Amino acid sequence: MINKELVEAALKIREQAYVPYSKFQVGAALLTKSGKVYTGCNIENAAYPVTCCAERVAIFKAISEGETEFQELAVAADSARPVPPCGSCRQVMSEFFPKTMNIHLTNLKNETKTFTMEELLPFSFETHDMPENG
Ligand code: THU
Repeated sequence: MINKELVEAALKIREQAYVPYSKFQVGAALLTKSGKVYTGCNIENAAYPVTCCAERVAIFKAISEGETEFQELAVAADSARPVPPCGSCRQVMSEFFPKTMNIHLTNLKNETKTFTMEELLPFSFETHDMPENG
């Protein structure tokens, strides 16, 4: 089921995006198990690769506040189809999100698609793939 409130929070924070280069605003809203919402927008840089995506801003804000358990994520952008998260963000998500967690992707046409973490990044590289980490 789509979490409308979370999608609304992603749409709202999208307005804060710092995007002088791409002009492509993205917003993300992350719901913790305890019911708190952490939001993020994309923040670009003149040195382009330093840019941080909205999803990672939201996740890093939450982690830096001591949150470790998450329920749902919503991502919003003015894209033709519900915005697909980039590969780096999918990898960061997979570090912290359960495989069954729902991720809602939306655009400004009110089209939303929901994927589980496992659907977004199957066969992901994980800590236990390194022998010394069991
Ligand atoms: N971007 C995000 O913030 N999240 C996504 O899911 C896709 C891409 C940002 C990065 C950059 O600021 C702009 O969109 C264009 O790539």
